[in-house]
Amino acid sequence: MLDTRARPLHDLRISVTDRCNFRCTYCMPKTIFGRDFAFLPRSELLSFEEITRLARLFADEGVSKLRLTGGEPLLRKDLDQLVAMLATVEGIDDIALTTNGSALAAHADRLRRAGLRRVSVSLDALDDDTFAAMNDVAFPVSRVLTGIDAAARAGLRPVKVNMVVKRGVNDARIVEMADHFRGSGHILRFIEYMDVGTTNGWRMDDVVPAAEILARIDARWPIEPVDPSYAGEVASRYRYRDGAGEIGVIASVTQPFCGGCTRVRLSADGKLYTCLFAARGHDLRGPLRQGATDAELRTLIRSTWERRADRYSELRRARTERTPRIEMSYIGG
Ligand code: GTP
Ligand code: 5AD
Ligand code: SF4
Ligand code: SF4
Repeated sequence: MLDTRARPLHDLRISVTDRCNFRCTYCMPKTIFGRDFAFLPRSELLSFEEITRLARLFADEGVSKLRLTGGEPLLRKDLDQLVAMLATVEGIDDIALTTNGSALAAHADRLRRAGLRRVSVSLDALDDDTFAAMNDVAFPVSRVLTGIDAAARAGLRPVKVNMVVKRGVNDARIVEMADHFRGSGHILRFIEYMDVGTTNGWRMDDVVPAAEILARIDARWPIEPVDPSYAGEVASRYRYRDGAGEIGVIASVTQPFCGGCTRVRLSADGKLYTCLFAARGHDLRGPLRQGATDAELRTLIRSTWERRADRYSELRRARTERTPRIEMSYIGG
């Protein structure tokens, strides 16, 4: 099954909640996601059974990799039960989780036992002040670090640590972060700040290009490129020449990778998004709850993918006006 740009479907990213206990300024700014913000009511969330049924149908259509996201996915009660259900789906050989790490220490073992293979943990700084300037809550960095170590000890290795870089806020911490994670066995990845959603006030001036990030690190510890570990990998990989491990950059602004994009996203309320920057999703929950058969749902999935033409990041430069688009916290990273 190929889309209009001949891209196959491999990865399904499943958002299990639109809520989060952080308020990262680049994702859920407090001015919008305040006390009165209307999050999805429980009845609108897909149940674990509904998610698993859809995952099975996606696997039939070629998906082999699942990633659970949010909001913050560990806010969803009994997430390990969902992992255990997904682990039974035939054709799925990789289940990963993207989390802010705040509750990871408490859950890592159970998630691993349920069948989770890998985690990506967001961490934007190592000092509490810069961390708070990024996520706008008072949460100690030390607890995220404990979560990262617990995940590695549980066997969710290698842990990927994702740092969104915002100029003037945390870019002075790039080398310090590299220093901390060198030799740890964890893979630190620097993410260019993206214009996802419409609420974060993104400006190109706030983006630190991946080339600049790499130059700063290379000046301290020489690095060299490494081949992608799979076709269409989001991160470009590098390794320290002295053998202290691997880092990555996710350069979706300065070096878009839409050509190899094999990802589809399922929102917590069952809408399918064929791009992180899509304006609208394709409802699967309606048909699901109205009794659609597996064959009918598979046709819906197939026709959505076969009509897909998205390549937002490649077109970004040519764009003049801001288009409506979905928020990151709603469909996950
Ligand atoms: P693996 O390669 O399987 O380890 O996962 P990953 O790197 O795709 O997953 P992760 O959730 O760690 O992704 C890191 C970040 O990359 C996300 O939070 C997004 O910021 C960004 N990203 C992932 N997929 C896409 C994509 O399709 N388009 C764009 N523009 N950014 C993406
Ligand atoms: N730009 C880049 N990455 C973002 N994320 C959320 N918002 C943005 C943004 N505006 C990513 C972070 C986090 C993941 C859940 O989503 O990397 O790790
Ligand atoms: Fe929460 Fe992750 Fe968004 Fe930060 S980036 S507000 S931790 S969902
Ligand atoms: Fe895929 Fe859209 Fe990201 Fe391009 S911008 S890589 S099409 S999700």
